[in-house]
Amino acid sequence: MAASLAHEIRNPLSALKLNLNFLNMSDEQLDDDSKECLSACMESVDRINYLIETTLDFSRKSSENLMQDSLNDIILKALEFFGNNAKRKCVEISLNLEEKIPHIPLNRNAALQIILNLLNNAVDACYEGGKVNVKTYKAVENNNVILEIGDNGVGIKDTEIENIFDDFYTSKRTGTGLGLGVCKRLLNELNAEITLTSKEGIGTNFFIKFPLTTVEELYET
Ligand SMILES: Nc1ncnc2c1ncn2[C@@H]1O[C@H](COP(=O)(O)OP(=O)(O)OP(=O)(O)O)[C@@H](O)[C@H]1O
Ligand SMILES: [Mg+2]
Repeated sequence: MAASLAHEIRNPLSALKLNLNFLNMSDEQLDDDSKECLSACMESVDRINYLIETTLDFSRKSSENLMQDSLNDIILKALEFFGNNAKRKCVEISLNLEEKIPHIPLNRNAALQIILNLLNNAVDACYEGGKVNVKTYKAVENNNVILEIGDNGVGIKDTEIENIFDDFYTSKRTGTGLGLGVCKRLLNELNAEITLTSKEGIGTNFFIKFPLTTVEELYET
C-alpha cells in the first residue's frame, strides 16, 4: 500500500518538477518576486520527494539484497557526494579507515544513506572551521567492525539525547527530523546497532557496530 502510494504521488510530482524546471529555464523573463516564488516551489517539491523516500518508500526492504561489501569503499563514495557540502561550510572531514577490516553484509544504497545522514548531521552541528572525523576499526573485545563519525560541534543536551531518533524530532529551522529515524530502521535491517556519546558545547560521536561476519577471508586490500 505504502509503496504504491509513493509511486502514485511520485508521478504527478515529477510532472510538477519538470514544469517548474522549464519555467526556471526562462528565468530572465521573470521579475524577482516570481523567481523567489519559483525557487520556493522547487524546494518544496524536493522536500516532498525526500519525505516520500524516507517514509512511504520504506517498504522496500534493504535486507533483501545484503552482500559482503567494503565499508571503507562506501565511505569514500559518500565523501565524493558530500565533500563539497562540508567545504562550503568550511568544515574539515578527516578519515582514519582501518585497512584490515573484513567485508560486512551490506546493502550499498542503505549504507550510503546512513553515512550521508550522519555526515550531514555532523557538519550541520559544526561551526565554521569545525572538524568531523570518520573512523573504521575492529572492536578490541570481539572483532566487531565499528564505524565512528565524530564532530566537535554544538553537542546534544542530555535531556534531548533520548528524543533524537524519534521521527520528526528536530532542533533545526529547516530540518524534517527523519534522518536518524531512517538510519535506525536501515541499521536494524543490517543487524547493526547505533549508539552515541555527546557533550554540549564539545561535540558528538556516533558509533555503528556491524554484526560479526562469518566470511573471514574477504578483507580490505
Ligand atoms: N552530530 C550531531 N550533533 C548535534 N546534534 C545532532 C547531531 N546529530 C543529530 N543531532 C540532533 O538530532 C536531531 C535529529 O536529527 P535527524 O537527522 O533525525 O533530523 P534533522 O537533521 O533535524 O533533519 P533531517 O530530517 O533533515 O535529517 C537534530 O535536529 C539535532 O538536534
Ligand atoms: Mg539529519
